[in-house]
Amino acid sequence: MSTSGNTMPGHAAPLRYDTASRTFHWVTVALVLATIALGLWIAHARPEEEAFKLTLYNIHESIGVTIWIITLARLAWRLGHPAPPLPAELPRAIRIAARANHSAFYLWLLTMPLVGFLATNAWGFPLRWFGLIPLPDPVGKNIPLAETLTAIHRLMAWTLGAMIVLHVFAALWHQAVRRDGTLRKML
Ligand code: HEM
Ligand code: HEM
Repeated sequence: MSTSGNTMPGHAAPLRYDTASRTFHWVTVALVLATIALGLWIAHARPEEEAFKLTLYNIHESIGVTIWIITLARLAWRLGHPAPPLPAELPRAIRIAARANHSAFYLWLLTMPLVGFLATNAWGFPLRWFGLIPLPDPVGKNIPLAETLTAIHRLMAWTLGAMIVLHVFAALWHQAVRRDGTLRKML
């Protein structure tokens, strides 16, 4: 499968992800990077001004919920639109690593927003999505639970960061070292 430069519309295995899958991917990238930046800001730079801080929390949390919804839609789409095949000569261990990385992304993008959402509820701050739509408050104020969920959210944030670094290095490795057209499948 070193023929990834060929395009034969309507024939052969698909050489790229379809347009919707690529859009899902890059919209998610933009939203996840924005959410992480805001998360680090609120958790570590702790802005002084209360109203501003609450706005940052609200944007972080609202984008996070949006990522959750987009990921559900993306997975539903993915069921009917499989990924283009990996390069045939790719070693087995790398294939397994790639699949594990992608599955872990989906798992994180589905559970992190939930954990963050329940943490916010447990701190006693029900969320209004972008200040507009009030969301349910299933747990109510519960500080010990809030502390646990926040610790989990934080741990997941750092592992997500590590997964992103690995994923980006893998993409660049495919592009610069193996030159096997993997990056182009997502562009
Ligand atoms: C995929 C979606 C999300 C990502 C990638 C994400 C990422 C992060 C990151 C990187 C931090 C800083 C962690 C640290 O170093 O302390 C953080 C903190 C936080 N996140 Fe999220 N988050 C997401 C979704 C959500 C959602 C949906 C909510 C709530 C509705 C939420 C609530 C919080 C809160 C309250 C904090 C602050 C914790 C503190 O003050 O220490 N997050 N998030
Ligand atoms: C927040 C950051 C990112 C997340 C959460 C993410 C997530 C994902 C996921 C879940 C897949 C699997 C798609 C599927 O088959 O269902 C994927 C594939 C891919 N991503 Fe990312 N991605 C991120 C950033 C990037 C960046 C920055 C690049 C480029 C430098 C990139 C390049 C690719 C490529 C080339 C594939 C296709 C891999 C293959 O065909 O096996 N991603 N990404």
